[in-house]
Amino acid sequence: MANVTVIGAQWGDEGKGKIVDWLASRADAVVRFQGGHNAGHTLVVGNQVYKLSLLPSGIVTGTLSIIGNGVVLDPWHLKSEIEKLEGQGVVINTENFAVADNCPLILPLHRDLDGLREAAAGSGKIGTTGRGIGPAYEDKVGRRAIRVCDLAHLDALDAQLDRLCAHHDALRAGFGQPAVDRAALIAELKEIAPFVLQYAQPVWKRLKKVRKAGARILFEGAQGVLLDVDHGTYPFVTSSNTVSGTAASGSGLGPSSAGFVLGIVKAYTTRVGSGPFPTELDDETGQCLGERGHEFGTVTGRKRRCGWFDAVLVRQSCAISGVTGIALTKLDVLDGFETVKICTGYRLGGKILDYFPSHAADQANVEPIYEEMEGWSGTTAGARSWADLPAQAIKYIQRVQELIETPVALVSTSPEREDTILVRDPFVD
Ligand code: IMP
Repeated sequence: MANVTVIGAQWGDEGKGKIVDWLASRADAVVRFQGGHNAGHTLVVGNQVYKLSLLPSGIVTGTLSIIGNGVVLDPWHLKSEIEKLEGQGVVINTENFAVADNCPLILPLHRDLDGLREAAAGSGKIGTTGRGIGPAYEDKVGRRAIRVCDLAHLDALDAQLDRLCAHHDALRAGFGQPAVDRAALIAELKEIAPFVLQYAQPVWKRLKKVRKAGARILFEGAQGVLLDVDHGTYPFVTSSNTVSGTAASGSGLGPSSAGFVLGIVKAYTTRVGSGPFPTELDDETGQCLGERGHEFGTVTGRKRRCGWFDAVLVRQSCAISGVTGIALTKLDVLDGFETVKICTGYRLGGKILDYFPSHAADQANVEPIYEEMEGWSGTTAGARSWADLPAQAIKYIQRVQELIETPVALVSTSPEREDTILVRDPFVD
């Protein structure tokens, strides 16, 4: 049976929530494999709105939901998100929810460091979500993290805490902050441990069993390929690998389990936080895209930067992530523009580039080369078949598909689940 891996192919916020919700309703298991509670997925089911940051989207419909080892887990946030959902009537128990016991924890000291660094960086700040994601991943690869399984051994944590605190105390001293209060940290961990441990297990084993039984697994990516720590606009990136390949390493299943890789692509471009953005529009058109697309961050409420569709970036994301097909979202936001533009290449120092260069200065200096197309006056909102779309909108989709060298699997035309044009079902093909 086919699995599906969903990833964002731009800078996140591509509208993954609706697509993931639709796929999750047909999956037997949903797995988060990277990131943490920096993600923001809004699900609308019936007349209820659910806001998820850490929990896999399947949780809302009772589908087996798994947090894989590639995620960094804030145990206090986990508790509050679960309690909030339970307050909305969602049933969460050890039958339908599991957390990898080898997940590194996000601790209050990570949040502190995230905030201190950002405050000190001034205009050079990354614009993080302030949730401690980066510092937690640093401690993971620095081999001094406290992991979920450690919560069952808190009385034997001294050596690990020595390593962790030695590192953080030195950094905190540099910011004029007091050393980590170890006693308070241990007390907080002791209090939260039983809550987290009830869900903790080697999830790779559970997934192996699920896979053997022929179940459909949905791997739910967070953020987007352009925020990938290797392939994104470094250093203005998140601290995890957001590409599809992480579905395997971040869950404990092999690469062959990824299945159909569905790249979610917005019909224009947005970005939250700092960093290069070649097609950004600082004018009325950018303002208009933001207003029509309700472009405000789900987690931080920040206004998103907006610009024209950048085919060079999306082509690169699709190649890097092995995207099988894309879901094109928010096409209706472009309704009514007299003309629309697509970036097809860059100019840099007298050269023409057909890719996004790696160096930060080059990324900041590339000038977009645009192709201008006639817009459409009719509406695409709510379209459910090609026949419902204005001819020019179809031309736009076809041109996008051609330029990114990846087929369109579906087009989403409103937040409603049914308002979708399905070309190829990721679970069936
Ligand atoms: P961090 O992940 O909090 O460290 O933030 C690093 C960068 O990734 C910042 O530019 C954030 O705005 C961006 N970012 C993190 N999570 C998301 C997301 O879910 N959507 C869009 N941008 C995100």
